[in-house]
Amino acid sequence: EREGGERVFDLNLRHGVSHFFEGIETPTIGINQPYLGPTLEMHAGDTVRMNVTSDLSETATVHWHGFHLPARADGGPHQPIEPGGSWTARFDVRQRAAMFWYHSHAHRRSGPQVYQGLAGMIYVRDSASEALDLPNDYGIDDIPLVVQDRAFARDGSLVYSTRMHNIMMGMMGDTMLVNGVVEPVFEAKSDRLRLRLVNSSNARFYRFGFDDGRSFHQIGTDGGLLTAPLPTDNVVLAPGERAQVIVDVSDGRPVSLLADGLEIMGMGNMGRGMRGSGSMGDSDRPTDNWMMGDRGGRGGMMGEEERRDGMMGGMMDERRRFTVLDIQPAASRRRAIAMPRQLATLPQVDPGNAVRTRRFVLDMGMGMRMMRGGGFTINGKSMDTQRVDETVRVNTTEIWQVENASMMAHPFHIHDVQFRILDRNGRAPDATEQGLKDTVVVYPGEAVRLLLRFEDYTDPDLPYMYHCHILEHEDAGMMGQFTVT
Ligand code: C2O
Ligand code: CU
Ligand code: CU
Repeated sequence: EREGGERVFDLNLRHGVSHFFEGIETPTIGINQPYLGPTLEMHAGDTVRMNVTSDLSETATVHWHGFHLPARADGGPHQPIEPGGSWTARFDVRQRAAMFWYHSHAHRRSGPQVYQGLAGMIYVRDSASEALDLPNDYGIDDIPLVVQDRAFARDGSLVYSTRMHNIMMGMMGDTMLVNGVVEPVFEAKSDRLRLRLVNSSNARFYRFGFDDGRSFHQIGTDGGLLTAPLPTDNVVLAPGERAQVIVDVSDGRPVSLLADGLEIMGMGNMGRGMRGSGSMGDSDRPTDNWMMGDRGGRGGMMGEEERRDGMMGGMMDERRRFTVLDIQPAASRRRAIAMPRQLATLPQVDPGNAVRTRRFVLDMGMGMRMMRGGGFTINGKSMDTQRVDETVRVNTTEIWQVENASMMAHPFHIHDVQFRILDRNGRAPDATEQGLKDTVVVYPGEAVRLLLRFEDYTDPDLPYMYHCHILEHEDAGMMGQFTVT
């Protein structure tokens, strides 16, 4: 809906009842519907106005993940929407074409609120990307896939546990919801599909690939298109990360997109093993570098008592294979269509412009410290909404060096910026990480250097967040605040 040059979205947060399983009712949270929210479509250069109202029974927020915008419009913990209340965010869309998303960022309640459904997708389009010969018809050949693992109790209700194990590992489930649906099937009407994946799970990392091991092209990262299509047979996404891929289904054979849940506990040089090794077709083991338990994949509902719990057992959480999407190809077959050779021109990565380097050390204190709730820290500090941790100057470029001192991989997310990855322990990022990013996985023992530029918006009083996107870690305090002045 357009009003006076603005694109207006009316979003109502509400409790609802979903039917994930036949004949079973699941209480959920949604936006304008029982679970998740509508996909918001906008164009680069638009001014958008988000009118958010809440009929929830608890304080919530709506954060526009990935967007460069004024801090007051960010939708973080400083923009709470009380039960029965409302909030309006207005901002200019200063992005490249990309898929972003929106979700709850309520103080210490992001985990349970997103888990119950408070999330949705955002498509930003621009004329440069629309001129490319790529599938671009929403829902026809351009398909968003919101990937979320969930645990259900026998009565069909969602299980969200705040036991120590689930806080430490993050809340995981044995059932895959894709766009709020269990085991979706897609009937393709074209020979090429563009899939836009967002890992909207609270905590689980996945490697995506096809059951027949076919290769495909990754064309985009968190913040937009890569410079050129990247042939691959798998894509790894941590919570918060997105990818756009093009898959050719012109051979007329049914094919399934799979997701292997990856272990995120690790010791030693684990991180390297996760990317780029092993295809889905020839192996059902994600990678042997990771500590992993031996439970076979088992979908459907199980009782709480069947769930494994406990500290040490939990450190070897089960590995699982999920089906994300069964694709039925179109009846008519044509030859494969060539990919565009170039997709976008990205700014040069020039660390020479950086005026300073900041260090961020992620840690999870174990034992007593964690029991008392002070264990999840960045630079030794747990999140405090009253404390601004960093102040950056507008119109400057900085290097942020993110170090992981814990035994678990953490997806580090920064608000307001799309950044570039300079290196991991001194090594250049692989091709899938050379695009625009707002979330980056930092493996145990790694130091990842990011290049960020702060522009346009200043606010001495209202901070932006940086945090681990495992939502239970975020809620437990692995988050900090920065202002741009
Ligand atoms: Cu996707 Cu600070 O969040
Ligand atoms: Cu964000
Ligand atoms: Cu974390």
